Amino acid sequence: MISKRVEKIQPSFTLEMTAKAAELRRNGVDVINLGVGEPDFNTPKNIRAAALKAMDEGHTKYTPGKGTFEIRDAICEKLSRDNSIKYNPDQIIVSSGAKHSLSTLFQAILNPNDEVIIFSPFWVSFPDIIRLADGNPITVQTNPNDNFSPIWEDFHSKTSHNTKAILINSPSNPTGSVWNNEIIEKILKICKKNNWIVVSDECYEKLVYDTDYQCAELINSRKKINANVITIQSMSKTYAMTGWRIGYTAGDQNIINAMSKIQGQATSCPNSIAQKAAIEALTGNQKEINDMKKIFKKRRKVMIDRLNKIPNINCQVPGGAFYAFPDISYYLNGRISDSFKLSDYILDKANTVTVAGAGFGMEGFIRLSYATDEKIFLEGINRIEKTLLNLN
Ligand SMILES: Cc1ncc(COP(=O)(O)O)c(C=O)c1O
Repeated sequence: MISKRVEKIQPSFTLEMTAKAAELRRNGVDVINLGVGEPDFNTPKNIRAAALKAMDEGHTKYTPGKGTFEIRDAICEKLSRDNSIKYNPDQIIVSSGAKHSLSTLFQAILNPNDEVIIFSPFWVSFPDIIRLADGNPITVQTNPNDNFSPIWEDFHSKTSHNTKAILINSPSNPTGSVWNNEIIEKILKICKKNNWIVVSDECYEKLVYDTDYQCAELINSRKKINANVITIQSMSKTYAMTGWRIGYTAGDQNIINAMSKIQGQATSCPNSIAQKAAIEALTGNQKEINDMKKIFKKRRKVMIDRLNKIPNINCQVPGGAFYAFPDISYYLNGRISDSFKLSDYILDKANTVTVAGAGFGMEGFIRLSYATDEKIFLEGINRIEKTLLNLN
């Protein structure tokens, strides 16, 4: 009864962990959720107000499939102002979140058996979004001791005549690592030479704490590489707008048109009220956004310092996003032989949700999020420490 397509994919296990935590909480258990993938702040007031105004003014109807001209124009303004890259509104498509942007994009560019290179650890949804579009995700290893940079020998051994695209994600979910520009430049040059598409998921671009962020397309144009870069961005993380479901894609007009054709048949258009709110987010006052970033930066230090105080845990300082990805391999032995089992054990004994590194394609690690109040995550880490120390 159910299609083969569904058999090819797994349910999103990060969403499953959130559901598990919610159920425990419903049953009265005092659960600490360090598995969250969204800011704990409400959407800023000016953005909420823009949505209310949009409803009152009757912006409650279908919009053009790619999003209104107004939002695509606002996106171009943002890309020029913040990223120094030039697009016109015809090169932009707005979708129902960046997840939807990625899934529409891969449906638009992949044929059966086309391969897409992804780097492990990867965001859980990447492989299945590619599989749903009939492509094959091919995993390239990265080096945890070198900021999760690509292992180039592995990269070269994994590319083939079936390679269609390379998917990069800096800052990364789950590691928070920010690749240096040389890595991106190298990938762009290889892709240009081989006529592969570079898909750059830049959802966490505004949460970069130690360096000036340069997006892939900026490096592409500054270095005159001329690779085919498709930029994916999201309103979710930067503007605390996960529930509004707005993401967007900028790039080659033929690809954008192909995506538009699919989107028009799949969802008609992104939510009209959320589009209005997103315009305010992109072009309005950025103060609350900058305040949120400062809080995340402070929390990052508190979380990483605390994690590194747990005996035999090693956590590098991630350059961006709101995740810590500590090496917990010391604690994997005997009956707790992998990170899934460890994460379940921690949930069971410490009532604290973490996410197993193996789910992101890298064993020996777990992911913790600091998109949670500092007091709460410190309590969660205290519990984790106690549980780990009792293991040995
Ligand atoms: C790397 C990455 N890309 C895309 C998304 C999806 O974001 P959106 O809420 O815009 O669909 C997420 C969300 O967790 C993410 O971590």
